[in-house]
Amino acid sequence: MAPFSRIASIIAIVSSAASAWKTFTVPHTDGQDDTPALMAALPDYTSDSTILFKKGVNYNIFTPVKFPVLNNVEVRIEGNLTYPADIPTIQAIVGSSSFPGSWFTFTGGNNVTLRGSQDPEWGWVDGQGQAWWDAQQQVNRPHGWAFSKINNGVIRDMKLWKPIAWNFATSGANNIHAFNNKIVAVSDTKSFPFNTDGFAAGGTNLLFENNHIQNGDDCLTVGSGAKNILFRNSYCEGGHGLSIGSLGKGGSVADVQDVLIENVVMKNSLYGARFKSWTGGNGLARNITWRNIVFDGVPFPIYVTQNYWDQGLGPKPPAASSNNTHIQDILFQNFAGVIQE
Ligand SMILES: *[C@@H]1O[C@H](CO)[C@@H](O)[C@H](O)[C@H]1NC(C)=O
Ligand SMILES: *[C@@H]1O[C@H](CO)[C@@H](O)[C@H](O)[C@H]1NC(C)=O
Ligand SMILES: *[C@@H]1O[C@H](CO)[C@@H](O)[C@H](O)[C@H]1NC(C)=O
Ligand SMILES: *[C@@H]1O[C@H](CO)[C@@H](O)[C@H](O)[C@H]1NC(C)=O
Repeated sequence: MAPFSRIASIIAIVSSAASAWKTFTVPHTDGQDDTPALMAALPDYTSDSTILFKKGVNYNIFTPVKFPVLNNVEVRIEGNLTYPADIPTIQAIVGSSSFPGSWFTFTGGNNVTLRGSQDPEWGWVDGQGQAWWDAQQQVNRPHGWAFSKINNGVIRDMKLWKPIAWNFATSGANNIHAFNNKIVAVSDTKSFPFNTDGFAAGGTNLLFENNHIQNGDDCLTVGSGAKNILFRNSYCEGGHGLSIGSLGKGGSVADVQDVLIENVVMKNSLYGARFKSWTGGNGLARNITWRNIVFDGVPFPIYVTQNYWDQGLGPKPPAASSNNTHIQDILFQNFAGVIQE
């Protein structure tokens, strides 16, 4: 081998080693919390890595998982994951000052994929919500998945079983594709799976499609700061609708624009399309379209309020105020179905 080509081949080996993809298979110990071992390993897998929850394993996520900033990382959930089954354990964690806000928290990064499994038996994240619903226990319920500050992200094939509370949130995210995800917040008893929002859309350039959501609150909720949001080809059952807001709480200035929600089936939902803002708020929600909405068993297929109040969210604001979140260019098009009397 000539000296020059030998140098070239050494350079090739070095550069391929530098860009090599790494896979971390999350270890599991029966009866123990699997989060600490994952947290200990994560600093070595923040780029060009797959973090794998292996099929065939029932992982115990007994304490919250907080990911560092990730670049070119795929988190694959192919095993089953469970929250702690007992309510006080979770309440103590959520009530502590170190709680990151969600049971699974992403803190930022680029090109991050959160991927579940297409195997119907595996890849479920069990929130153990039934006990909470039956006990009517709403105190210190953790949010599920905060896909925060991710630029270029994918959430796909995720499956959430009986989540306790709010599910996916994309605050501060940009360019996200969330598809083929399933949320099953359905009670086996007469209890109601309260406040289990499906997708909380925050950030810019977000595409949600082919998602299947059975829950007890908003199927979609679009928050302030959201821009260029497309939610389509999905199924929502049992919840509170395809919502913008709530906006303008406590006099805050809302900014929502360019939202298209289309081709959605709403089944036994309290509302279909819903806009909610608080008296005394400010700002603007503009260019929002709901179209091709099919509904069945929905009392209020279209519902707009600028006097929103939910007793879970604090005291009722004074009724009289000169301010309101402004609404501009809102379209409801091609709604068809059966209204629940
Ligand atoms: C983005 O991440 C995926 C894995 O989720 C990887 O296959 C791909 O190469 C990454 N893209 C870049 C530009 O590195
Ligand atoms: C995984 O979890 C889901 C939801 O709890 C359950 O239906 C399924 O049977 C579990 N899979 C296995 C193999 O135990
Ligand atoms: C309205 O929003 C859509 C995306 O839903 C966008 O394509 C369109 O350009 C926007 N129109 C205006 C006038 O901003
Ligand atoms: C209405 O909003 C303006 C700012 O745009 C603020 O100065 C004013 O105090 C608000 N009025 C009320 C009644 O909240």
